[in-house]
Amino acid sequence: MTWNPAQYLQYEDARLRPALELAARVPLASPATIADLGCGAGNVARRLAQRWPGAAIVGFDSDEAMLAKAREHAGERLRFERADLAQWRAASPFDLVYSNAALHWLDDHAALFPRLAASVAPGGALAVQMPYNATAPSHALLNEVAASARWRDRLARFVRPRPVASPQEYFDWLAPHARAVDAWTTEYLQHLPCRADGEHPVLAWMRGTTLLPFTAALDAAAQREFAAELALGFARAYPPRGDGSVLYPFRRLFLVAIR
Ligand SMILES: C[S@@+](CC[C@H](N)C(=O)[O-])C[C@H]1O[C@@H](n2cnc3c(N)ncnc32)[C@H](O)[C@@H]1O
Repeated sequence: MTWNPAQYLQYEDARLRPALELAARVPLASPATIADLGCGAGNVARRLAQRWPGAAIVGFDSDEAMLAKAREHAGERLRFERADLAQWRAASPFDLVYSNAALHWLDDHAALFPRLAASVAPGGALAVQMPYNATAPSHALLNEVAASARWRDRLARFVRPRPVASPQEYFDWLAPHARAVDAWTTEYLQHLPCRADGEHPVLAWMRGTTLLPFTAALDAAAQREFAAELALGFARAYPPRGDGSVLYPFRRLFLVAIR
């Protein structure tokens, strides 16, 4: 599966807001080093560089297309490296290990989060935001269609019913490695505009992220058929308003742990 920075950044404002709200809750005045895990196209790392002008920032990601986009803005204090976060461990600890909308792609968070905390310097912070929307109609419908008789041979293996654990579980996994853990959730009422191409806005939103493993496993004709089935369900769950826009409630989980 490969990422498409242009598709992902179609909803840049809505995707950036939680990234900035996470950064706003990090109680560090001037971290010298920052790791941005799953940095994607680097647009969040650039905001971190503005917020902490003295910091050296390294963005880590496994996707070459995302890294190529990110490197368009690389500089002396802003570098991007290829890494698989499933194995990542800092060579020397960072003052801030930050990750926006990336770690839900990884499994075994009970082992992952303590490992990430170990890459934070004493007095530093681990700050993470992940979508916490698996029970939303959009995700329930995707999982139901992928597991249906029509698709399950090709798609059932991509269904992840619970990619993100509860705030309490993260608290328990991080507390032994932290002086303080702050965990909270926010539900955004996202107003997605009508699209010129007529596609249901929730389908277009999900194409940039959640749908990627599913569509990557299908040829073009099957992708169209699968998308049409999803669009029918999305139109019922998120009916277009008079102007063709939709309201798409979206929950996210935030964590800030201080070492
Ligand atoms: C939804 S994008 C978020 C990008 C960026 N953090 C942002 O907020 O705009 C998720 C990113 O996580 C990266 N990612 C997913 N699994 C990864 C892994 N195992 N190792 C490294 N990067 C990974 C993807 O390549 C993708 O760029």
